Amino acid sequence: MKARSIVWISLFLSISISLAAQSRIAIDHGPYLQGLTEDEVTIIWTTNKPAVSWVELAPDDGTHFYHEARPQFFAENYGFKKVDSVHMVTLKNLTPNTTYRYRVYSHEVTDHQAYYVAYGRTVASDVYGQKPLTFTTNNPRKEEVLFLMINDIHGDNALMDSLLTGVQWDKTDLVFFNGDMCTDMRSEKKLFDDFMDTAVKTFAKETPFYYARGNHETRGNFASTYPRYFPTPTGQLYYTFRQGPVFFIVLDCGEDKPDSDIEYHGLAAFDNYRTEQAQWLEKTIQSDACKQAPFKVVIIHIPPLGNWHGENEILKKFVPILNSADIDLMLCGHLHRHLYQEKNNTTHFPILVNHNRQMVGVTATDKLMEVHITDTKGKQVKTFTYKVR
Ligand SMILES: [Fe+2]
Repeated sequence: MKARSIVWISLFLSISISLAAQSRIAIDHGPYLQGLTEDEVTIIWTTNKPAVSWVELAPDDGTHFYHEARPQFFAENYGFKKVDSVHMVTLKNLTPNTTYRYRVYSHEVTDHQAYYVAYGRTVASDVYGQKPLTFTTNNPRKEEVLFLMINDIHGDNALMDSLLTGVQWDKTDLVFFNGDMCTDMRSEKKLFDDFMDTAVKTFAKETPFYYARGNHETRGNFASTYPRYFPTPTGQLYYTFRQGPVFFIVLDCGEDKPDSDIEYHGLAAFDNYRTEQAQWLEKTIQSDACKQAPFKVVIIHIPPLGNWHGENEILKKFVPILNSADIDLMLCGHLHRHLYQEKNNTTHFPILVNHNRQMVGVTATDKLMEVHITDTKGKQVKTFTYKVR
């Protein structure tokens, strides 16, 4: 065979192989955990092709994942197994304080007619070549909780990486993203490129993060799709949960400027969203779950300081309610600098605004809550201590 023919044949073969590989279904992002509580979690991942998806769940009992058929939980809605490229499976009625192993599957749907559905290949997370993924449900009786908070990353993956380097994930219960993790929301790809792929790679498959939306997640054509990727226990962007001795109240700050501002092009309705949220907050602080927790921590991106419209709204609508709830600490971001305000006559709890190049780490028992702030080199730069009331 002539040399030229061999070159053409090899070129043809390599193009065919690469096209075949491209056309195969693959998990392109995730999986990651959301909305983890004592008895529920949602597992989310995406594929490059539409598929029917499910999670297999196994106890953490030392058996091989292939020991027996594991129960399957499908991504379902309105009586359908959903065909989609964004997959979310909510596991309910879990046992508190229990570690589960999980595996995700997607079965490609290649054609969907009125009376005919065709399937392609199935893709799944690996449980043979590597350990199955795990998560542990929250435990209100856990003696100690360790949580972290980062904010205002603005799509800087290297910054996020440097803040999270050295974290002992086996000792870390949860992470907060306190807003402005990106500068705007324009596509699913950008969402994962900006910070989510780094989160998944570093911890989010097995350690939950809880998101407080910032004023930059509200911007862009993909902003209204954002909640789909970060489901919460309430179905809203404000919610509560308890882990160990701490009751967390996560609030949505909305935008910083008035809804009528030219920058929002007539699409903002955050005054109403904050009013609706204040009504929910009023009821929430009356709950036994809130009243009985040794520590109460509020997570909100914009602090009720300064004089912008958003700041004033938070001061006017949220702070008076929080003032009657014995809040121990409010954690904020937004300012891109460190600021600490002691409790005073206006705000009956301290406010810690975290620098965007620093990370907050909190350890709490039922007697003491210690806050350690570290920089991008992992060096501790400040500490604060709170005793139980
Ligand atoms: Fe902000």
